[in-house]
Amino acid sequence: MVGTRSSMGKPYRPKDHYFRKAKAEGFRARSAFKIEEIVRRFSLLRSGARVLDLGAAPGGFLQVLSEAVGPKGEVFGVDVAAIRPLGRANVRTAVLDVLAEGFDERLEALVGGAFDLVVSDLAPKTTGIRGTDEARSLALAETALRLALSRGKPGSAFVTKLFMGGDFEPFRASLREAYEEVKVVRPEATRGASVEVYLVGLRRRASLRAG
Ligand SMILES: C[S@@+](CC[C@H](N)C(=O)[O-])C[C@H]1O[C@@H](n2cnc3c(N)ncnc32)[C@H](O)[C@@H]1O
Repeated sequence: MVGTRSSMGKPYRPKDHYFRKAKAEGFRARSAFKIEEIVRRFSLLRSGARVLDLGAAPGGFLQVLSEAVGPKGEVFGVDVAAIRPLGRANVRTAVLDVLAEGFDERLEALVGGAFDLVVSDLAPKTTGIRGTDEARSLALAETALRLALSRGKPGSAFVTKLFMGGDFEPFRASLREAYEEVKVVRPEATRGASVEVYLVGLRRRASLRAG
């Protein structure tokens, strides 16, 4: 983003406010405010809920989700990067690549049962080549959706990040087949220049079309 310059000559980015706010409130990442907004807006969680968090490092989402589900709930976070322990009894994490062969089986072995909410903040390392970045983001979002369908309870919710691109509409259409309602959200804490949005699927349908 080309920022305007303050009188001190430093680029002025209005939303860097969230970076400072995250530091001040003890959150590991500004993204904590994004999931906080989404969970609040759609009343996605209650005490005792089970959540799967994909692309969870360094743990900003985990901090918010752990608080929202309370001591009787459970949050399982997955990332290719190791997540420094949060010191919360209701959070477990694993270092796994969601795109690797055998991922589903490994995950199942670590955490069984169905989830009330599957969230994905998975993001590729960006190359700066728009088509490549969008395609990688879509591949991650599709993987997250597949997991939400296989591991989410009927009636459960799904939240995924996606870089806006040409495949946005077909992806939204596939969510609409699986969820009764689908929302597109650009949380307040999103950086001004970012191309990312979050899709929110509400109330997973009990019967899904095969394939
Ligand atoms: C935007 S960051 C997530 C921030 C996190 N939600 C938080 O609040 O701290 C995106 C994450 O996706 C992870 N990621 C990217 N590709 C992945 C893959 N194939 N499997 C697992 N994690 C992946 C990255 O390592 C990175 O930590």
